[in-house]
Amino acid sequence: MTAIDLIERKRDGGRLSTAEIGWLIKNYTSGSVTDYQMAAMLMAAYIHGLDRAELFAWTDAMLHSGDLLDLSAIKAPKIDKHSTGGVGDKVSIPLAPMVAACGVAVPMMSGRGLGHTGGTLDKLETIPGFTTNLDPNTFARILSDTGLVLGGQSKTLVPADQKLYALRDATGTVPSIPLIASSIMSKKLAEDLDGLVLDVKVGEGAFMESPDQALELAETLVGIGQAYDLKVVALLTNMDAPLGREVGNANEIAESIAVLAGGGPDDLVEITYALGSEMLQLAGMAQDDEAARRLLRAAVDSGAAMEKFAAVIEAQGGDPRVLDHPGLLPKARYQQELPASRTGYVTLCDARNVGVAAMRLGAGRERKEDEIDPAVGISIVAKPGEQVDEGQPIARISFNDEGRLAMALPLLKRAFHIASIPAGQPPLILGEVRS
Ligand code: URA
Repeated sequence: MTAIDLIERKRDGGRLSTAEIGWLIKNYTSGSVTDYQMAAMLMAAYIHGLDRAELFAWTDAMLHSGDLLDLSAIKAPKIDKHSTGGVGDKVSIPLAPMVAACGVAVPMMSGRGLGHTGGTLDKLETIPGFTTNLDPNTFARILSDTGLVLGGQSKTLVPADQKLYALRDATGTVPSIPLIASSIMSKKLAEDLDGLVLDVKVGEGAFMESPDQALELAETLVGIGQAYDLKVVALLTNMDAPLGREVGNANEIAESIAVLAGGGPDDLVEITYALGSEMLQLAGMAQDDEAARRLLRAAVDSGAAMEKFAAVIEAQGGDPRVLDHPGLLPKARYQQELPASRTGYVTLCDARNVGVAAMRLGAGRERKEDEIDPAVGISIVAKPGEQVDEGQPIARISFNDEGRLAMALPLLKRAFHIASIPAGQPPLILGEVRS
């Protein structure tokens, strides 16, 4: 077998066998298939897609490219949640402690921000001392001790995806349904889960801009789970506008803490409870949505969810005093308000422009290797549907660098649309797919 034979066949619309895909992924992970060969293969797969057998073979080869987590010592049901990525999407941060406080083991394995989308790991690392870089034994021990762990993917878990994702990012081959689905599911299958809840984002700020594409992605993800007997529920949720009012890193932690304290913006709270409800039902802890929401609400009202977050922060080396003293989070040196250009109603706050503006401020990465500034970000004062007066602030920008502010401002101005009549807002939850 040679890489060039396989590339040529895929380029011409042919299909690859399970053995050929296994060979390709194994040899790419070890380095004997080169980046330039794999880049050509990815582009061929992007253009022609992968059929069902190819998709399963691709996912399985990635899954077995490294170690698998062994969490068999943990007796509680193990349920994770994964989002396909959005702007202001800090849901995992309040959700994981809320669900863990209800008795589910939550091995939350998250990623870093890239492009206009933020990453849970970057947000968590704004908590002084908090580390997300955990080896598999430490990951399992913290999960066993606290019922919850908030880590990144270790180097030995699905190494094929670590290489492939970086290559896709550099070759314009990220937004392919089979490549996204195999990337996400190989990592989730390596986690030894009993159930998985997926938040498939749809809209301006998501990889999948149309509901049809998002549905196809959700069905593909759930279909892979089914092939491995993993219970999967996918909710399709709106990502036309940022979720919540904060976009950045430290400011998103502060907003997550507000949700755990029983507050927080309505859209963020609704998505957190909807996903939490699915996690509790998958775990067998609640019979229906109403019962699940009651449990989640009780975990918040009693303070159990906040205590869980404090426990995991401490277990991962962080300073839990941030929960009562958000002033301990990194703070930008300067603030500037963006005034409303006219009186009226915000009809659109375009997630992609806000996300790119936050990235330009330094809150996100243009390239994988970029450093982020944890303190900078955007606070949305007027969300879609809300009324504004000309000259009043619609957004507040926290920044450390005038040059970066100058790059972010035009995008942020473009993100807000104001009209005299309020526009109807799309529902937050657009659909669901279940195994
Ligand atoms: N998230 C992933 O883990 N992989 C993708 O390909 C896209 C989003």
